[in-house]
Amino acid sequence: MPVSMMKAVVQHGFGGPDVLCYDDVPVPRLSPGEVLVRVRAVGINPPDWYLREGYKTLPPEWRPAATFPLILGTDISGVVTAVADDVEGFALGDEVYAMVRFPEGMAGGSRAYAEYVTVPARELALKPAGVDHAHAAAAPMSLLTAWQFLVDLGHDEPNAVQPGPHRPVDLKGKTVVINGAAGGVGHFLVQVAKLKGARVIAIASGRHVTMLKDLGADEVLDYTNATPEDELRDVDLVVDAVGGPTSSRFLKTIKRGGALFPVFPLGFAGAAEAEQRGLTVSATQVRSNGAQLRELASLLDSGAIRVVIDGSWPLADAAKAHERAAQGHIQGKLVLIVE
Ligand SMILES: NC(=O)c1ccc[n+]([C@@H]2O[C@H](COP(=O)([O-])OP(=O)(O)OC[C@H]3O[C@@H](n4cnc5c(N)ncnc54)[C@H](OP(=O)(O)O)[C@@H]3O)[C@@H](O)[C@H]2O)c1
Repeated sequence: MPVSMMKAVVQHGFGGPDVLCYDDVPVPRLSPGEVLVRVRAVGINPPDWYLREGYKTLPPEWRPAATFPLILGTDISGVVTAVADDVEGFALGDEVYAMVRFPEGMAGGSRAYAEYVTVPARELALKPAGVDHAHAAAAPMSLLTAWQFLVDLGHDEPNAVQPGPHRPVDLKGKTVVINGAAGGVGHFLVQVAKLKGARVIAIASGRHVTMLKDLGADEVLDYTNATPEDELRDVDLVVDAVGGPTSSRFLKTIKRGGALFPVFPLGFAGAAEAEQRGLTVSATQVRSNGAQLRELASLLDSGAIRVVIDGSWPLADAAKAHERAAQGHIQGKLVLIVE
C-alpha cells in the first residue's frame, strides 16, 4: 500500500538554519507528466539558503513569493516509486537523479528536502550507475550550471538575467580562468573546461590547491596570497563563480574579443568598461534539463567528471548542513542523506 506520510525538512518562517524543522508531512501527489521518487540523497545549493532566509539580498520586487510551510531543495537522487499514466521511459525501481523545477520552483515549488518528491519526467535522468546516490544528488544544479555556461544552454527560454541568450564559446586551445574554482559550480567548471580542451587557471584559497590540480587545473592561484587580476593578462575567458559586484576586476585580464561569464551576475558594474575593451559579458540562469543530465550521467559514470563532497549529514540535520554552508569556503558539495 502506498505510504501517505513522510519525513521532510519544513520551515514556517524565513530565518537562519534554526527555522529548519524535521517533521511529518503528506507524501506529494503525482500530477500528469510526473514521477514520484523515494529520495536517497539531496544536494544542497545556494538557492536553498537564499530561499530559507527569504531572498533578502534581492530587491523586494524580485523576491519570489513563498508560502508556508515551505520545503527547500532542488537536487535529488533516488528510486522511482510511482509513474503517472502518461509518462514513458521510467519504471518502478529505476535509480534516477534530477534538479527539480528550477527556476520555476524558486519560491519553494521544488520540495526536495523530503523522503519523497514528485519530478516532471522531462527533468529526470537515470542515475549514473557507477556513482552512489550522494554523489549523484550533489551534481545536478552545479554541473548543469557549468554545462549550460560553457557547453550548451540547452533551451531557448527567455534569459532572466540579460536581454539576449547566453552563448557558450569554443574552449579548445583557449586559456580559461575559473574564479571560485573549489566550490560546487567551480569544481565542475574546471573539469568541463578541461574536457573541452582549454588550459585552465583556477582561483581558490590555498587548501584547495591539491584537489584542483587533481581535477585537472593546469595552474592554481591562491587568492589569499596573490591578487589574480594583477597577475593574469591576455586570457580568453574568465568564468567567475563568485560573481557579484567584484567580477569587473577581471575585465583587464581578458584579451580583446574574449569574454567574462559571471555565474552570479547580480550587481555586475563593468558593462561600459567591457564594451571599451571589446569584451563580451554574458550570464544565464540554470534550468532543469533531463536530457542534459542523461548526457552528463555517462561522463559521471566514466569518471570523466568527478563529484567532490565537502560533507554530508542525515536529512534530519539539514540545519547543521546549512550552518556549514554559512561558514563558506566549501570544497565541492554539501549533501543530505535520506535513510
Ligand atoms: N547563474 C546560475 O544559474 C547559478 C547557478 C548556480 C550557482 N550560482 C551562483 O554561483 C555562485 C557559486 O555557487 P556555488 O554553488 O559554487 O557556491 P559554493 O559551493 O559556496 O562555492 C563558492 C566557492 O567560492 C570560493 N570563494 C569565496 N570567496 C572567494 C574569492 N574571493 N575568490 C575566489 N574564490 C572564492 C569558496 O572557497 P574558497 O574561498 O576557500 O576558495 C567556495 O569554494 C553563488 O553565488 C550561486 O548563487 C548561479
